[in-house]
This record gives sequence, structure tokens and C-alpha cells, in this order.
Amino acid sequence: MSQSQTVAPHGGKLVNRVVENGPRTEPSTRIRLTQRQQCDLEMIAIGAMSPLEGFVGKADYHSICQKMCLSDGRLWPVPITCAVDASVAETISAGEQVVLTDDRDRTLGYLTVTETYSHPKAEQAKTVFLTEDTAHPGVKVLMDEGDVCLAGAVDVVTLCHEPEFPQFRLTPAQTRQAFADRGWKTVVAFQTRNPIHRAHEYLTKCALEICDGLLIHPLVGQTQPGDIPADVRMACYNALIEKYYQPKRTMLSVMPAAMRYAGPREAILHAIVRQNFGCSHFIVGRDHAGVGDYYGTYDAQEIFETLDPGDLQIRNLNFEHASWCNKCEGMVSVKTCPHGNEDKVFLSGKKVRAMLTEGQRPPQEFSRPEVADILITSMKR
Ligand code: ADX
Repeated sequence: MSQSQTVAPHGGKLVNRVVENGPRTEPSTRIRLTQRQQCDLEMIAIGAMSPLEGFVGKADYHSICQKMCLSDGRLWPVPITCAVDASVAETISAGEQVVLTDDRDRTLGYLTVTETYSHPKAEQAKTVFLTEDTAHPGVKVLMDEGDVCLAGAVDVVTLCHEPEFPQFRLTPAQTRQAFADRGWKTVVAFQTRNPIHRAHEYLTKCALEICDGLLIHPLVGQTQPGDIPADVRMACYNALIEKYYQPKRTMLSVMPAAMRYAGPREAILHAIVRQNFGCSHFIVGRDHAGVGDYYGTYDAQEIFETLDPGDLQIRNLNFEHASWCNKCEGMVSVKTCPHGNEDKVFLSGKKVRAMLTEGQRPPQEFSRPEVADILITSMKR
């Protein structure tokens, strides 16, 4: 099966902004990127954010916020920006090239600045995050960013100086090739920022019943303090896949993106990105990419209903809140089970954390013992 038979990248062409060498003369201005910007840079460079070739300009920024599309009309839900302090921006003019670095001033790549503009943070908070509350972790990161955005295409020489999980860090071109090698015509992607508990496992396996392959695609870039670290999660995914998934139909690869916690808008972003990785279907469950009470339980599913048919090639697979039912003796949702909440195994995140901290496994109807044990050990660290 050739790559051309798989789902097309968003916008038609897979972007590649990775280059062998930088410009002949090294630019004098060095911009230290925030963690989120470093994640975004890597995602742009490998084509995961196709059709973006760099950080968005002012017209695109407003269009994304107001109409959820780039100014040329292509679906795009979240502005991807390189915001810097005003004092830095005033030394930079359009047409100039600047060096983009990581926290330790090591060169990642170059930005050819086409435009600088004042950062409309409040507009993004209101339209994308649907709140200006800085208790929201994504809004907090946004508000702490610089006040001026630099726009333009990027050229990246080093995606990341110390990449985590290098053997699982596949680019969209590589996942596309891997699907083709396995002969998978339809592939469902599972986005996650958590260990895979029984509910997650249920969604992935239901979805795999109707697709050729499953891509477990955890987000391993910036998350909020308190989220389970990516290395612990990876140990959980590997243990679970080894014991409970069909190896011929399951693939694990990481997505080096930052989490924004933007609920419905982020669900669209997650779907676009997985289309770029070559997936045909995308799982959207309860409160996808949500945090606190900022979004309704199924808002991230409903937003897909507002799209035009040609906006996206990847198809969302929606799932109701799933849990174990003692009477059915299996994983269920309100769609499949007639019993009440009193028969369900529901545990809050807080309760689960408390159990794990005390070295206690949550019930196996909630989490596989292999996963619980890894989490218990990590809590002791
Ligand atoms: S997310 O931020 O990546 O969405 P999480 O890793 O918890 O968080 O969820 C991964 C996916 O599983 C999301 O699509 C989410 O909606 C879905 N999900 C998580 N728990 C449940 C559940 N109990 N029932 C249905 N869907 C769920």
C-alpha cells in the first residue's frame, strides 16, 4: 500500500521544516523559546502541524480566534505563536532572521520574521479557551507569555537536544510509513495525557474493532504540574500493551506537543495533528483535553458537528463516559448498560491519587494491577 492511499495531510501536503544547516551567517539575535514554544517548534518542523510552516501572523491569529480557520479558510483552531517580551521585539525588524534556542541557549533553528504584532492574549483566552481565568493552566501559560508575537516560517536544525523516548518519537512521515508497512488502511489514534486505565483501554479496543490498527499516541510535551510524568506513563503503556493488546494491531508512538487544556478547540487540534500522522479516525471521549469545570462533558464532541464536511479528513469516534458495571461485569456506558450509578465503579482522580500514595492498588475494575504497581512505585519517588 503506497503512502498516497492513506489519509492526506491537512492542507494536502506534509510540511517538513527540518534542515541540515543554518544560514551562512549566524544571526546575532537569539530568542530563548518557552517550553510550549519549543514543543510547537518541533511539531511544526516535523509536519505534525501541517499546513503551518511557522508561527502565525496577525491576520491568521484573528481569523483562528474568531472563525476557527486560517485566513485562507482552512480549519485551524488554536493560534501557534512565538511571543517575546516587547523589549526584545523592538530590536527585531521584519525580514530579519533570528536564532531560536532552548532553555540552555542551544540552537534549535531559525525564524525568518515576516511581521511583529502585539499579542491579542485576551482575544485568544475568550475565544479559544472560553475563559480569561488564570487558574486555567492553559490560560496561565498564555498570560505569562511575551506581549509581542513574531511571525514567520521556521527552519529547524535540531528538533530537541535531549529527546525523551527517541525510539518512540516518530515523525508523521515515519508513522505513515509504519502504517503502510503493516498494511493498515484505517488507523485510529488515541490521544492521552494519563496512564491508560480500564475506561481508556475500553475505548481503544472498541475503536480497534472497526479499524485496522490502533496508534496509542500519548502527548509527552509540556503538561501542568501534578500531571503524571511522561516517563511513568510510558512505563504504564508498555506494560499494558505487552500484556493486554494485540501486538499485530497496536503501535505506540509519542507526540511531543504541549498540552493546552483548551477542551473543544484542542480536540480539533488533536484531530488535525493525528490526520497529519496518517490516522483515519480519532477517539474523542468525555471531557477531551478538558480541565476543571471549564467545558461541558461532551463539548469536545459537539464541536466536530459544527465543521463542514471538507474541513477534515480524519473522522472523530465519540465515546460516552465509560466505566465498569458490577451487574454487567464489564466496561459499559449509558448507551449500553441499563443499570444505575450504584452498580458502577467510579473513582475520582483525587481518590485514585490518595490510594496510590498509600501504596494501595485501585480496584482492578478501574485500573490493571500492572499499571497500578508502576504508579505506586512512582509515587514513592
Ligand atoms: S486528554 O486530555 O488527553 O483528553 P485523558 O488522557 O484522560 O485526557 O483522556 C484521553 C481520551 O480518553 C480522551 O478522548 C478522553 O475524552 C477519553 N476518556 C478518558 N476517560 C474516559 C471515560 N471514563 N469515558 C470515556 N472517555 C474517556
